[in-house]
Amino acid sequence: MPTVSLTVNGKSVSGEVEARTLLVHFLREKLSLTGTHVGCDTSQCGACVVHVNGKSVKSCTMLAVQADGAKVTTIEGLANGAELHPMQAAFREHHGLQCGFCTPGMVMSAVDLVQNNPAPSEKDVREWLEGNICRCTGYHNIVKAIQAGAQAMKR
Ligand code: FES
Ligand code: FES
Repeated sequence: MPTVSLTVNGKSVSGEVEARTLLVHFLREKLSLTGTHVGCDTSQCGACVVHVNGKSVKSCTMLAVQADGAKVTTIEGLANGAELHPMQAAFREHHGLQCGFCTPGMVMSAVDLVQNNPAPSEKDVREWLEGNICRCTGYHNIVKAIQAGAQAMKR
């Protein structure tokens, strides 16, 4: 079996994987980082979004071996110790979640959006979220949370 070595949330990790192992399964099953969710089998829901070398990626669309040598950040790596990332805090403050299943992927996608577009309009946010499905909230508060999170990330 191939061995992969990568940096996850700032720590070097390596392990043997089957060639067909998806990155999301490597993160959840080998590293016990279960904040990255699996919501579909069709690469549509976005619950599995992580950052690979700083860019948001659906981790169910990538093989673990393709991440060899990469820097990966999951939702577990976003907070600074006990202090939430500003985007996480904005989701909490603006009630940007209900069941929370979509939330890790939403937050990871949102941080990537804001890194590239520091003041996204409502339209920008809604377009960016096309790849992230939420079954509960109706998106309104998610959009508000992301715009507030964008402001907070400037500070
Ligand atoms: S689990 Fe990856 S997009 Fe749904
Ligand atoms: S909060 Fe339940 S799926 Fe989004």
